[in-house]
Amino acid sequence: VSLRKFNTFGIDVNARYFAEISHEDELTELFADPQWLQAKRLILGGGSNMLMVKDFEGLVIRMNIRGIEHRISHDDVFVEVGGGEVWNDLVNFCVDRNYAGMENLSLIPGSVGASPIQNIGAYGVELKDVFESCRAFEIATGNFRTFTKEDCKFGYRESVFKKELAGQYIIVSVKFHLSLKPNINLKYGAIEQELANRGISNPTIEDVSKVVSYIRVSKLPDPSTIGNAGSFFKNPVIGDVQFRLLMEQFPDVVNYPAGEGQHKLAAGWLIEQCGWKGKVVGNTGTWKNQALVLVNHGGATGEEVYSLSSQIIDSVYTKFGVMLQREVNIID
Ligand code: EPU
Repeated sequence: VSLRKFNTFGIDVNARYFAEISHEDELTELFADPQWLQAKRLILGGGSNMLMVKDFEGLVIRMNIRGIEHRISHDDVFVEVGGGEVWNDLVNFCVDRNYAGMENLSLIPGSVGASPIQNIGAYGVELKDVFESCRAFEIATGNFRTFTKEDCKFGYRESVFKKELAGQYIIVSVKFHLSLKPNINLKYGAIEQELANRGISNPTIEDVSKVVSYIRVSKLPDPSTIGNAGSFFKNPVIGDVQFRLLMEQFPDVVNYPAGEGQHKLAAGWLIEQCGWKGKVVGNTGTWKNQALVLVNHGGATGEEVYSLSSQIIDSVYTKFGVMLQREVNIID
């Protein structure tokens, strides 16, 4: 089975076995067959945060469990959503009904079930700010378990599902805690700026959603025309000592406070300073408006993109002494 349509990078690789799951029971059935317990597995949502480096010699499970249920209690809104729902469809569902909390997360590609795995985030909000709990299938036992926000151990682009429990659970649904009372978040300056450009001083959540979508479209390549997986690397976090030394040499380094004694650097800036922004390398390259995004200009192989990412890591390390980490999942 070709996976080209199932990964936003548009890499043309094949999977040995492929199963689509539309209902929880199908997971139970699938793993009742001992063959699959042993097989190498890949759980696929929107395929928007991965790079397929070669053919996958195992079982690809595409999650397609649908459904959005909502319950309102006073000003609180609880929305429980099937893991296979498209993230942005959920955002629109909430914005249309004035359920506040999701608006800054507009237009993020991918599925609802994948959203907790790396604690997706953008424009001042992270998934953990709206997350209540999720339900997941434990592959080894066939049991379902509910994870609270605490259980998930969310961090910057991190969760327990990427660390201790990597590969052990399949998220089947996610419950969100939203509100009927908007709490407009303009921490990310460009939102406020764009609202001002539009003459909006009392933004609704719909205004915020529109502006965020506009900013995303202007900076990030649309995966339906140019293959990509969003930010390819994480923004690196470094300690005080290293930060002070770096600032002495490069006073312009773009940075944000990241908790006690920690500093987050804009990886896009580091990469741009090394001369990579908008550079085309074979069929791949970095995006002209955002150097943190690697793209497939057409016909790129996973190895080609991976090799470019290695070159970028090397050059950023050589110039700044900072080691970038890949944010996308490398599937090989
Ligand atoms: N910058 C450059 N050159 C570039 C890109 C960025 O100099 O080519 C500098 C600019 O100073 C800019 C700053 O870096 O102001 C920050 O850039 P931007 O606001 O675009 O955000 P980012 O830190 O590059 C992160 C997330 C994005 C998210 C945006 C907005 C990560 C790894 N990425 O990017 O998430 O949309 O903030 O909140 O944290 C993703 O995870 O796939 C993703 C797209």
